[in-house]
Formats: sequence, structure tokens, C-alpha cells
Amino acid sequence: MSTLRVGIIGLGGIARKHCGAISTLDDVEVVAVADMIEENRQKYVGEYDIPKSYPHHTDLLKDDNIEAVGVVLGHQLHHQLVIDSCNAGKHVLVEKPMALNLQQCDEMIEAADRNGVKLMVGLSFHYYGTSLKAKEILDSGELGPVITAVSYMTKNWNYASRRPQYRSRYHGGGMWLTNGVHVVDRLNWIMGSQAASVSASIGTRAHYQAGDDSASAFIRYKNGLGGHAIAVGYANGGPCHECHVICANGTLRFCQHYEKFVKVGRGEDWEDVPFDDQDEDMHHEWGSFAHAIREDIDPPTDGHWGRHVMEILYAAEQSAITSREVVLDNGLGWNNQSSGLRINQEHGWL
Ligand SMILES: NC(=O)c1ccc[n+]([C@@H]2O[C@H](COP(=O)([O-])OP(=O)(O)OC[C@H]3O[C@@H](n4cnc5c(N)ncnc54)[C@H](O)[C@@H]3O)[C@@H](O)[C@H]2O)c1
Repeated sequence: MSTLRVGIIGLGGIARKHCGAISTLDDVEVVAVADMIEENRQKYVGEYDIPKSYPHHTDLLKDDNIEAVGVVLGHQLHHQLVIDSCNAGKHVLVEKPMALNLQQCDEMIEAADRNGVKLMVGLSFHYYGTSLKAKEILDSGELGPVITAVSYMTKNWNYASRRPQYRSRYHGGGMWLTNGVHVVDRLNWIMGSQAASVSASIGTRAHYQAGDDSASAFIRYKNGLGGHAIAVGYANGGPCHECHVICANGTLRFCQHYEKFVKVGRGEDWEDVPFDDQDEDMHHEWGSFAHAIREDIDPPTDGHWGRHVMEILYAAEQSAITSREVVLDNGLGWNNQSSGLRINQEHGWL
């Protein structure tokens, strides 16, 4: 099996998780990094034994040795950097949220298609060992059909240390786009359907900033089910990143942070279920990206998946402003990969 040669662009904070996860995979290697700040470049090159570094993404993209890149920087930069990377012929894993509007998402998908490269959105909740086990249980049918679910991410917003761009909606910040993206992705996946409409309340309730910090959305799905996505960055409290799924013949709770568990509920009791507990949270994310490139199939959270999550997030904002349920205007299909391959449990909508 040949090794996928990767370049990481943007060495702020979370690039550490990407490099750490890649170091646990035999078939993926970071061969170069890029960041405008020299100190960051030196830190990563030294710590992860990375052979090359560049001051700007445009320099890294000229490196013919690199097959794929991780775009790991501010939300407002995702669109341009993904297009530049696709045009340079690199497969792209872009951090969440995908982009600042649907037109940008469309242009990113188009750039990937035109250049024949894979585009995956790094929706990390999708790839945690706990999430994969939970989905496996639901897909096995042992709990019966899903009735409803609540997907939470409530955490301290850490206002003082949060970088300015993530506190500003203009730059794609605020709790809803920054972290609501995770809870909506997870809910869509669990519900096994695309969304039809959204009704939401979103606001800035605990902080003085130009972006929201609290959101609660009811999402109605095309398969007739409804679920709740809750994302709150409070000023003080206790965190909950749990997903609670209620099925006809059993219930399920799972969580990766700050507690880590998968629990099945039957007979009025909760029972712990073992799962693939990797030290590095992004292990399966990079594994899945490399697998999609090798097998020439769509990654589970490809550009269309990421776009649909954004469509729901923007519709929720519109709903919060208008106090009305917003009906989505989408006709995406969910039966086949764009290659024509049938969607299976591991990849795609079902
Ligand atoms: N998946 C997750 O669980 C998770 C968790 C945290 C953050 N994130 C996401 O990761 C992304 C990055 O977040 P962060 O806080 O690490 O980033 P950051 O904003 O702290 O750092 C970005 C870095 O990119 C560099 N940079 C900017 N433009 C560049 C260019 N053209 N070429 C090379 N380098 C350039 C900057 O010098 C900076 O060091 C965001 O999208 C964020 O939402 C994801």
C-alpha cells in the first residue's frame, strides 16, 4: 500500500491534532507544512519530524511531492484555499465549517470536480470511535427504528482566549457556525436523511461579541423524523457533548468529550458498550480520507454533505431572525456515490 503524502496548511492550534492523528496511520505521512509565522513552522517541523516547511500556502501547493492537503485555518479562508488547492491538483480535507455561504460551497465542490480531486469536510464528530460504534448499533437495527434524537455541544466559550475571527459572524465565527456545525452533522447522520426544514432560536446571550453564542434548532427530516441540535457557548457551566437517540426498542447515548462512552438503554438500565478507543481523535478521519482517495470513492463527509450541513445552519439563522420555520430548497440524492457506486453504511447518507 503506497503512503499518502500530505501537506498541512495553517499551524494555529488544531493542526496539532491533525499531525498527531496522521502519525498513528501507516499509510499517511505529513511531508510539509505551511504557516506565515516562522515560529509555528519551526515548532511543527521539530516536533513531528516534518521534512519541509513553507511560509505561504501558494508555495506549498507548488510542491509536486504533495498529493493531499489539510486546510486548517480561519473559516473566512476556507473557500479560497480549497479552490487554490484543487486547482493545484491536491485532494483536500478542509476544516469545518465548510465556508461562509452556499455559493462558496458550490464553487469549492465545482473546483474539486473539475480537477478530479477528493474534497472532504473535517466534521470530526463523524469519525470518533464512539460515534462510529453508535452508528453501527443504529444501523444493525437492534434498537429498532430511530424515533428522535438530541445532539448537544454545550461548553465554555472561553471568550478571553478565543481568537477574534471566531467571535465574529462576519468571519464565519460564533458558536453556531463554529460548533453547531458538529451537532448538525451528527444529527443528520443519525437521522439517516437529509433535512426538509429548520426552526431555530439563535442569539448572543452570555457575551459581548459580534457573533452568536447560543443556538437551539429543531430540524425536520425528509424521512418524517425530527431532531434537536443544541449548541451553546456559556460563560460558566458544565460541558455536554452528548448525543441521545431514542429508538422504538432501545435508547442510545454516546459522547467523546469530556466523558467518553457509548451506552445502550434497555429495561430501564444503561449498559456501557465497548468502542474503538483511539488516543488521537482524528485517527479515523484521516484514515477515511486516505481510504476514499485510494478507493476513488466519495469521503463520508464530502463537499455535498458539508454543503447540506451549512444549508441547515444558514436556514436556522434565517429562522431565528424571522421567527418562522424555514423550508430548505434542496433536491440532493442520497442513494449513490457520484462514481455511481451504491451508498453503504460507511459512506454517504444512509
Ligand atoms: N474539527 C475540530 O474539532 C476543530 C477544533 C478546533 C478548530 N477547528 C477548525 O480548525 C480551523 C483552524 O483553527 P485554528 O484555531 O487552529 O486556526 P488559527 O486561526 O489559530 O490558525 C491559522 C494559522 O494559519 C496561518 N495562515 C493563514 N493564512 C495562511 C496562508 N495563506 N498560508 C499559510 N498559513 C496561513 C496563520 O499564520 C495561523 O497560524 C478552523 O476552521 C476551526 O474551526 C476544528
